[in-house]
Amino acid sequence: MREGRIRSMLEEDIPAIMQLEKECFPVPWTEDMFRCQIMLGDVSANLVYAEDDAITGYVVSWFGVEELHILSIGVKPERRGRGIAENLMDEAIRRSMKNRCKKVILEVRRSNSRARKFYQKLGFRHIGVRKKYYSENAEDALVLEKDIEIST
Ligand SMILES: CC(C)(COP(=O)(O)OP(=O)(O)OC[C@H]1O[C@@H](n2cnc3c(N)ncnc32)[C@H](O)[C@@H]1OP(=O)(O)O)[C@@H](O)C(=O)NCCC(=O)NCCS
Repeated sequence: MREGRIRSMLEEDIPAIMQLEKECFPVPWTEDMFRCQIMLGDVSANLVYAEDDAITGYVVSWFGVEELHILSIGVKPERRGRGIAENLMDEAIRRSMKNRCKKVILEVRRSNSRARKFYQKLGFRHIGVRKKYYSENAEDALVLEKDIEIST
């Protein structure tokens, strides 16, 4: 079985991430969006899951005031259901705690039932709706939130 590891996203990862992005989303991020995200440095957690030479998952996020905002997370279709996204989320949360983040927040398409099930499994709760948030099809975003558990 392949063993993966989580590490920070590098600029040279962008071509592989773009490929993955196209497999994950109807409206993929652009290369420049990932480049800007990497440039945020310490106020963000941008991580990849690397298996052998392949990148099979990623998460991009930034640290707001006491709040980790997950901007995007994706896993290669053939590698889903193995805990890769959960591991990426855990590591982003772990890094955000150094920046005093106390909760995680994200938006998800109403129609994205797989992702909604995934977030439900992780303990996210529904706190609101952003109407017509996704402009290309005027779809609503559900806003989900979860407290970060501080272990002592
Ligand atoms: C949502 C996503 C990131 C989950 O990645 P993952 O590595 O499969 O997630 P994990 O293995 O850590 O967790 C799997 C859980 O998510 C849900 N899930 C993930 N993929 C699923 C699938 N193909 N079918 C049904 N449920 C799925 C299930 O609740 C599953 O829990 P269980 O297997 O323990 O019952 C992945 O499906 C994905 O990349 N989707 C496309 C991109 C996307 O929608 N991103 C979220 C945008 S808000």
